[in-house]
Amino acid sequence: MRQSKKDLLGMLRASGRLTKAQWIALLTDITEDDRAYAAELARAVSQQVFGRRIFIRGIVEFSNYCKNDCLYCGIRRSNAKAQRYRLTDDEILDCCDEGYEIGYRTFVLQSGEDFTYTAEHLAELVRRIKAAHPDCAVTLSLGEREYDELKLMREAGADRYLLRHETANAAHYGMLHPPQMSFAHRMRCLRDLKSLGYQTGAGMMVGSPFQTTEYLAEDLCFLQDFRPEMIGMGPFLPHKDTPFAKEPKGSYELTLYLLSLCRLMLPHVLLPATTALGTIHPQGREQGVLAGANVIMPNLSPTAVRKKYMLYDNKICTEDQSSDCRFCLQQRMKSIGYEVAVTRGDYAE
Ligand code: SAM
Ligand code: FES
Repeated sequence: MRQSKKDLLGMLRASGRLTKAQWIALLTDITEDDRAYAAELARAVSQQVFGRRIFIRGIVEFSNYCKNDCLYCGIRRSNAKAQRYRLTDDEILDCCDEGYEIGYRTFVLQSGEDFTYTAEHLAELVRRIKAAHPDCAVTLSLGEREYDELKLMREAGADRYLLRHETANAAHYGMLHPPQMSFAHRMRCLRDLKSLGYQTGAGMMVGSPFQTTEYLAEDLCFLQDFRPEMIGMGPFLPHKDTPFAKEPKGSYELTLYLLSLCRLMLPHVLLPATTALGTIHPQGREQGVLAGANVIMPNLSPTAVRKKYMLYDNKICTEDQSSDCRFCLQQRMKSIGYEVAVTRGDYAE
């Protein structure tokens, strides 16, 4: 007998696991009612675990140099139109100081894969940030690095690492990346991060080119097995100077539905309503929270470089100052009955 989506959502909430066929059933012929029901369940779980408190993380996008050439990404190596920049350590520290003043207790250092910043250099930077702000967490999002490098940065005090798996299907990975990039290496890196004790973030874009329902089901199977502490997931949005410029953007509604499924699968997972979700829809981050997300990651980069870290067209908040974003989000959360928490917001079961 075919199970209804309500039954499947109930099973998901009870056990955190479904078979691939069940995930496919949940992802097929989704109605408005299905989405609303999933969001209601997910929101209740999120409120049980976190209350109505939203964790915030300040992202410092410290370099847009990248050795990679991901076909979807606006800062890919082959995009000659991207104006490249690197922040100095002092500039990065200044961003963290400013962030601290306005209530951030997690700093996310994100960049393209830029190996001019060696692991030793980054470890020293982490030590400096931790020394200046001992009550703060540092999250890294630097792309793939080798075990010893990740270990060095972990030992320097880095707490978390975001590395989206992008897709759990090797063939699909090959359609989104040039042949030099290895699916196996990305997956190994994710396992290394977990074994080193990082709170580890995986995730995928929703509606990336060539994505199928089956691939998405494989993503969810991967996530339920890997059990990341964080899931970064937003819609794919095209960038005009990439090979995927003419590809359609991902679905806003499907992204919200998937956020709900992730919350039901992993009740304690740190789940951001992403900037891409805020870009695809003006109320995207609010709706993301109402669908089960519990984290927002506003920009903490100097306004002068924000437009240069353009992963996709029309990215929001590139004109704003850090304090504008911080208080804008506070208002946005307040408008839906949530409050921003001034705390590290670690993963806790
Ligand atoms: N270099 C690091 C890495 O590979 O993890 C961090 C930076 S990378 C730009 C961060 C994430 O941006 C990627 O994992 C990808 O999922 C997302 N991203 C890149 N291009 C995008 C696009 N066109 N639309 C939506 N998300 C995108
Ligand atoms: Fe940046 Fe609203 S979050 S202006």
